Formats: sequence, structure tokens, C-alpha cells
Amino acid sequence: MKLLVTGGAGFIGSAFIRLVLGGDAAAEVLNFDALTYAGNLENLEPVADHAGYRFVKANLCDVAAVDEAVASYAPDVIVHFAAESHVDRSILSPKPVIDTNFTGTFHLLDAARRRGVQKFIHVSTDEVYGSIDPPADADEDFPLRPSSPYSASKAGSDMLALSYFTTYKLPVIVTRASNNYGPYQFPEKLIPLMIANALDDEPLPIYGDGQQVRDWLYVDDHCRAIQSLLEKGQPGEIYNIGGNRALPNLDVVRMILAATGKTESLLRSVEDRPGHDRRYALSSAKIQRTTGWTPAMDFEQGLARTVDWCRANTSWVERVRSGAYRDYYDSNYSRREEELGRVTAGSKR
Ligand code: NAD
Ligand code: DAU
Repeated sequence: MKLLVTGGAGFIGSAFIRLVLGGDAAAEVLNFDALTYAGNLENLEPVADHAGYRFVKANLCDVAAVDEAVASYAPDVIVHFAAESHVDRSILSPKPVIDTNFTGTFHLLDAARRRGVQKFIHVSTDEVYGSIDPPADADEDFPLRPSSPYSASKAGSDMLALSYFTTYKLPVIVTRASNNYGPYQFPEKLIPLMIANALDDEPLPIYGDGQQVRDWLYVDDHCRAIQSLLEKGQPGEIYNIGGNRALPNLDVVRMILAATGKTESLLRSVEDRPGHDRRYALSSAKIQRTTGWTPAMDFEQGLARTVDWCRANTSWVERVRSGAYRDYYDSNYSRREEELGRVTAGSKR
């Protein structure tokens, strides 16, 4: 099977390619990636010499490049990861998010419609459901109430993808995963940012009261879920993919402090994210029923593995945190600094 994978130089896309190529000498993958700040070919070094691996540096916003890649590679299957994936960046600068996540997805869907593929997996997110009041869990029929430009762009692209199934019978599957974590994650996201800052004895910025709840999914579990849907998922369907481990942010950060051997003196309460979703909660019953997939990684073990990976790969971490990352860090966190304050030990703030 020939796979065209978009965003394969990013965090989840690269884990997916390592999984697919690592387990099969005959597998074939074309990685279509623009190498934005989040794309890094070092993530693919373990499989770069695989005979079936190809890379094209191209942008989803370039309709001719998308058409050319789909027509000339003639994939059996497309797995679409590429996106502007960070909520805070989407708040600071929404346009690239709409361009890539909505218009770029449109270009890819339309090229796939004209060329024809056996399956098109559109990788989306639980953020499209917005904040969910306890005790509810979102199933796939839950209303969409996206809060940020990022989640609205993903909700819009989900609708567009499903319309290509309804109208053109393009065999689209939409997946909605919860918060991923693991090796190679760009350190703008909560877990890798807190690990990197803690290891460097830098402050750990907690948005608001730190009681927002996220459901944590180890990246390899997410990739196995997508593999199971390539095999058994039904076109036209949506599948939630949750980690079954919901935790308040402050609890996660305290676990990182423990795992890195640092103290609570590093915790800082900073200005909250505008429109911050309070709680995400997913039911993954449908994918479990359809494919038998379940998340395998225990959160404590996955977090320990991620901390170990960061310790063993300091040059990767330092390279991606230099240059443009510093500019982003300053623009996102400097305006919050006036509110920097200590989170007192044991407090729920
Ligand atoms: P990431 O930011 O680590 O990687 C994104 C990749 O897409 C990068 O390699 C980047 O170069 C590429 N890219 C961005 N814009 C592009 C464009 N215009 N053309 C071509 N390539 C482009 O993202 P991630 O965390 O790996 O997320 C992958 C997908 O999974 C996204 O669609 C995201 O919405 C979804 N998702 C992420 C999470 C999470 O917790 N990270 C959870 C659920 C769903
Ligand atoms: O739920 C799936 C989504 O998870 C994906 O669709 C997104 O691509 C991914 O970025 C992630 O979105 P979040 O906004 O939930 O992830 P982030 O790591 O940015 O933040 C997690 C929580 O931690 C959130 O409540 C905000 C908080 N936070 C984050 C950062 C970066 C902080 O308190 N401080 C921080 O410095």
C-alpha cells in the first residue's frame, strides 16, 4: 500500500511514519511537508534510509504542488496530519491557521477526489467539541463548539472532509484525538515545554488556575489507532481517539516536577489563555467497538519515557528552542509576565 502522509515531519506525523516503515520493509510512504517551524526532518532519521521512504518539501496552500504530488505519486491512501497545530499561535496570528488547516485541506481533498484514493484519513481533534461540562463525555455526535481559531479551522475542515464523502463518495474518515504527548513533540505544547523549562530551571508558566482538564494520549497509541482505522474504519465515519487519562494541568506539571527532580518554586501562575477551554472529555467507545483498539500506555510510564527522551536528546531540544522559538516564546509569554506569581505549594489556586 502506498501512503501519502502530510505533515510527516511534525510530531505525530513523524511517529506515524516511523511506525509504518519501522515494521514493514515493503511499506511505501511519501511525506509531503512544508517544513514550517514545527517540521523537522531529524524526527525521521530512524527511517530515512528505508527503501520505501520519499520526501517532498511542499506547501498545502500551493494548489499546483498538491495536485502534482497526488497525481504523480498516485497514493492508495492519504493520511492528512499537516496543520498549524498550536492554539496559542492561532490566537496570536490566525491567518496561517485558516490558510493551512481549512484551505490546504480543501486543496488536498479536491486533488484526492480527482485522482481517487481507497481511503483519506483526516486527522482532527477533540477541541472541535469545545469545553465540556462534567460529567459528560463527547461522543462523535456531540455538538461542535470550537473556541479558538485553531479549533474552528479544524471543525470547518472536518465538515468539508465529510461533505466530500457525502457529495463525491471520497472515502473520508475523520479522527478526533485528545492531547498527545511523547518524544519529538515541539516544546510549545504543555508537556515538552514544562519538561524543557524544568530541566533548565526556568519558570513553568501555568495559565490561570491550572485546573483545566486535558485527556492525555501517548503518541504511539494515537498512531496505532490510525493504523487500525486504515484497516477497519468505515468511510464517512468520525472516530474519537482518547487516552482515557483526564488530568488537571497543574497535576501534570507537578508530575513533571517530580520526574525531573525539581521543586514547586519553579511554578508561576500567568495570565490565562483567551477563550480557554476548561475541560475536554472523550468517549472512544466507537473506535474500540469497530477496531478493538485501546490506548496501551500508562500515563506515568509515558511521561517518564518522555522525560528520559528529553534528557537523552538535549541537542534536539536545544536546536528547536533556539532562534525563532525564542521570538515566539517572548511574544506569547511576555504579555503574561505582569501576572507572574508564585503558585504556593499544595494550592489549587
Ligand atoms: P505539528 O505542529 O508537530 O506538525 C505539523 C506538521 O505539518 C509540520 O511538520 C509542518 O511542517 C507541517 N505543515 C504545517 N503547515 C503545512 C502546510 N501548509 N503544508 C505542508 N505541511 C505543513 O503537529 P502535530 O502535533 O503533529 O499534529 C498533527 C495533526 O494532529 C494536526 O492536524 C493536529 O490538528 C492533530 N492533532 C494534534 C494533537 C496534539 O496533541 N498534538 C491532538 C489531536 C489532533
Ligand atoms: O486536545 C487536542 C489538542 O491538544 C490538539 O488539537 C492541539 O493540536 C494541541 O496543541 C493540544 O491543544 P491544547 O491547547 O490542549 O494543548 P497545549 O499543550 O497548548 O495546552 C494544554 C493545556 O495546558 C491547556 O489547558 C493550556 C495549558 N498551558 C499550555 C501552555 C503551553 C499552560 O497552562 N501553560 C503553557 O505554557
